Amino acid sequence: MTAKASQQLVAVLDFGAQYGQLIARRVRDLHVYSEIVPCDIAAADLVAMDPSAIILSGGPASVYAPDAPDVDPAIFDLGIPVLGFCYGQQIMAARLGGKVGHTSKGEYGPATLARDGASMLLADTPSEQTVWMSHRDAVTKVPEGFMVTAHTDTCPVAAMECPRRRLYATQFHPEVRHTAYGNKMLETFLFGICGLEPTWTMENLVDELVGNIRSQVGSSRVILALSGGVDSSVVAALVHRAVGSQLTCVFVNHGMLRKGEPELVEQVFCHQFDVPLIHVRAEERYAQLLAGVTDPEEKRRRIGTEFWKVFFEEATKLDGVEYLAQGTIYPDIIESGARKTGGKASTIKSHHNLIPFPEGVHFDLIEPLDHFFKDEVRELGLALGLPEAMVYRQPFPGPGLAIRIIGEVTPQKLDILKNADAILREELDAYNARLFEQTGERNSEHSCWQYFAVLPDIRSVGVMGDERTYARPIIVRAVESSDAMTADWAKLPYEVLGSISSRIVAEVAGVNRVAYDITPKPPATIEWE
Ligand code: XMP
Repeated sequence: MTAKASQQLVAVLDFGAQYGQLIARRVRDLHVYSEIVPCDIAAADLVAMDPSAIILSGGPASVYAPDAPDVDPAIFDLGIPVLGFCYGQQIMAARLGGKVGHTSKGEYGPATLARDGASMLLADTPSEQTVWMSHRDAVTKVPEGFMVTAHTDTCPVAAMECPRRRLYATQFHPEVRHTAYGNKMLETFLFGICGLEPTWTMENLVDELVGNIRSQVGSSRVILALSGGVDSSVVAALVHRAVGSQLTCVFVNHGMLRKGEPELVEQVFCHQFDVPLIHVRAEERYAQLLAGVTDPEEKRRRIGTEFWKVFFEEATKLDGVEYLAQGTIYPDIIESGARKTGGKASTIKSHHNLIPFPEGVHFDLIEPLDHFFKDEVRELGLALGLPEAMVYRQPFPGPGLAIRIIGEVTPQKLDILKNADAILREELDAYNARLFEQTGERNSEHSCWQYFAVLPDIRSVGVMGDERTYARPIIVRAVESSDAMTADWAKLPYEVLGSISSRIVAEVAGVNRVAYDITPKPPATIEWE
C-alpha cells in the first residue's frame, strides 16, 4: 500500500545525495506527495509510477567516474518536467550532449548567484541572491537547446534550462535553507511549471489511508503489537478508524516501562478510542526471565525473544486474524537499502523477515506509515486525535528500563529507577515546554531531545539528616540530537540540574547522590547498555 493512491507524485531520483531525503521533505512541506526512488530506475518503471514531476538529487560522484551513478536518458524524453540539482544538473548535461569539467577550485557554502536573462525557474527571485553550493565538478557546456540562466563568480553555469523540453537544473541546492529563494524556486517548479495542486494535506491523507486499509482488510481481523510508542500508536489509531473493532491491539507489559506508561496506553486506547486491547501483564514472567542476568546483550536477547513469544501466544488465541499491522516508517525502508525500482507495489522491506513468526503461523503485513517521515507520523497522530504526550514521546528502547539498570534487574531497582526517572522527566518536560514557549520550536537548539535516568550498580556514602547513608546514585542522561546517530550532552542550566538533583534525593528512597553524564556520542552511546 502506498500513501500516494490518487495523489499527484513527484519522484526524487536519488544519486546518493546528502540531501536526498530533504528534497522529498521540502516537496511534501509544499503539500505535494513525493517519493525517493533509485537513480537508475528504468524510464518505463518510472512511467508506471505516473509521476507529475521528476527531481534529480545531488550526489558525491563525478559524472565521468567509472562507477558513477547514472540515469536512463529516456526519462528526459517523457515530456514530464525534470529538475536537477548539483549532480542532477551535471548528469542532465552529460547525458544530453553537454560537457562537465573538473574545476580546479571547488565551491562550498554560500555563494552569490547572478541571473542571466529570462528564466522560468528563477522568475520570481531577485537578480542577485544567496545560494548554497557544494561541488567541485561543474557544467562547462550546456546541451543544445539549453540556455544558461545564472552564474556565480566561480561557476559559469549555475543554472540552466530548456523550457521547450521542460528540463531545468541548478548547480546549487535549492532544498537547503541557506539558499535564500530555494523554496520559491520549488514552488515555481511544482505549481507554475508543472501545474500541480497543493492537495497533499493531513486531513485528505487520513481519509485516503483509511480507505486503503478498509479495502485491503475487508472483513478480516487485524492484530497489532502496541508499545505505546509514536509509530505503533498512530497505526493503531489509523487502523481502528478504518476497521473499528476488527482491530485487536496486544500490549505486552514487561514491567520495564516508565512510570505512568501502561496507564496512558490504557487510558488512550481503551477509554478514548475504545480499541479492543489485550493488556498482557507479563511482569512476573520477565522478572523470572531476567533473574541473575547481568550481561547487557543477554538482557536484550531474552527480552526481545520473549516479547514475540508472548505476542504470538495471544495472537493465535484469536480467530480470523489475517493481518498484522506494523509501525514501519519511511526512513526504516530507505535505510534498509532494500528498495526496488518500479514504484508503488514493489517496495521490498527486508525487515519483514525479522518478525519471528512461529512455525505454521503467518499474517500478512499492513504498514500504513511506510511512506512517512517521523514528523509526518506525528502530524497524522495529532490529526487522529492522539494526545500530545503520546505523539511527542521521546524514543524509548524496546528492552525498556532493563538497559538503564546496570547489572541485574530486580523489583527494588526498577522501583527506584521508575521514580527517579519520573521526576527527571517532569523537570525536563517543564524545561522544554518553557523553551517551546520562548522559541516556538519543539526542538530548539537548547531543548533536549532525549532524557532519562540510569541506575548504576554501585553505592556510595552520604549523609542525610544526622544519618550516614550508603545508597545508590542516579545518573542523569540528557542529550541533544536529531537522529540518535550522534548526540551531545545537553547544556542544561545549573538551576534545572539542581532541582532535578534535590528532588530525586529528597523524593526517592534509596538514592543519596545524582551525577550528570557529560559524554557525547561517540564515544559513548546514548543508552548505558
Ligand atoms: P544508542 O544507545 O545506541 O541509542 O546511542 C540510539 C537510540 O536508539 C534507542 N535505542 C533503542 N531503540 N530498541 C529501540 O527501539 C532498542 O533496543 C534500542 N536501544 C537503543 C535509544 O534510546 C536512542 O534513542
